[in-house]
Amino acid sequence: MRILVTGHDGQVAQALAEQAQGHELVFTRFPEFDLSKPETIEAAVARIQPELIVSAAAYTAVDKAESEPELAMAINGDGPGVLARAGAKIGAPIIHLSTDYVFDGSLDRPWREDDPTGPLGVYGATKLAGEQAVQASGGTHAVLRLAWVYSPFGANFVKTMLRLAETRDALNVVEDQRGCPSSALDIATAILTVVDHWQREGTTSGLYHFTGSGETNWADFARAIFAESARHGGPVAEVTGIPTSGYPTPAQRPANSRLDCTRFAETFGYRAPQWQDSLAVVVARLFGGAAASR
Ligand SMILES: NC(=O)c1ccc[n+]([C@@H]2O[C@H](COP(=O)([O-])OP(=O)(O)OC[C@H]3O[C@@H](n4cnc5c(N)ncnc54)[C@H](OP(=O)(O)O)[C@@H]3O)[C@@H](O)[C@H]2O)c1
Repeated sequence: MRILVTGHDGQVAQALAEQAQGHELVFTRFPEFDLSKPETIEAAVARIQPELIVSAAAYTAVDKAESEPELAMAINGDGPGVLARAGAKIGAPIIHLSTDYVFDGSLDRPWREDDPTGPLGVYGATKLAGEQAVQASGGTHAVLRLAWVYSPFGANFVKTMLRLAETRDALNVVEDQRGCPSSALDIATAILTVVDHWQREGTTSGLYHFTGSGETNWADFARAIFAESARHGGPVAEVTGIPTSGYPTPAQRPANSRLDCTRFAETFGYRAPQWQDSLAVVVARLFGGAAASR
């Protein structure tokens, strides 16, 4: 199947590139393909003639978005709608990636797909607009809300922690935001599971949550990263948990980012591994080896 994947160097795009054997993946590159420029989106779809689209590119700078709301909305809110409509015109369904930041974090249980949204910042609001534009496109779509994405690729929390530990013995990390770390390697598996399911059973539209299994907070996530790093002789730092108020950022984050992934598991038959197991795989890759036995 010919699949157009937006973004080239993104975490999820790179994980897909590794795993999508049996499919022809065509990646877009910025700035030739620019989600803030509708004509470049339509031209790419017309040229590539995909049978399916994975909408993985986004404006992901959560704090910077607070000072660039118009650009973030063009890329995250409007662009996916243009892409989904261009796909719909040629019968190409779309798998669109969204975020836990569409929620305000106030619930005391994992968020389900039908819970009320209420983004706390510009990034979340623009991603919510993107979901809605894809859902209104008239084409078949799966919207996958993700959270806390890390991988061997690009920039992410795991790589930041390891980098900081090279020069610092102790780090303060927020411990009152809960969520589940999600390996882009598992996300790529989830996306390809949807593709296979659609090929076998036909396409249907839906909204789904997909994250790693289990839950943690950022401080315990950091401690787990250093425990894995130690197994490979990598850098470690002492982690002190601090409240969100001790680490002010331009964008407010949800206190509870946990997503209930039951609907995805029941529909597609795949649930991500426990987050600690997926973390071990990624840290091992960063140190050029296999995951140490736990
Ligand atoms: N990272 C997270 O923790 C997280 C959490 C929840 C949901 N998500 C969602 O998951 C998806 C994948 O995230 P990710 O972590 O893989 O993203 P990422 O690594 O930040 O990559 C984003 C990609 O978007 C591309 N891009 C940025 N601006 C663009 C524009 N104007 N036009 C076209 N492409 C543009 C970038 O291209 P260049 O490489 O050329 O810059 C890059 O390839 C996104 O939809 C994101 O919102 C991410």
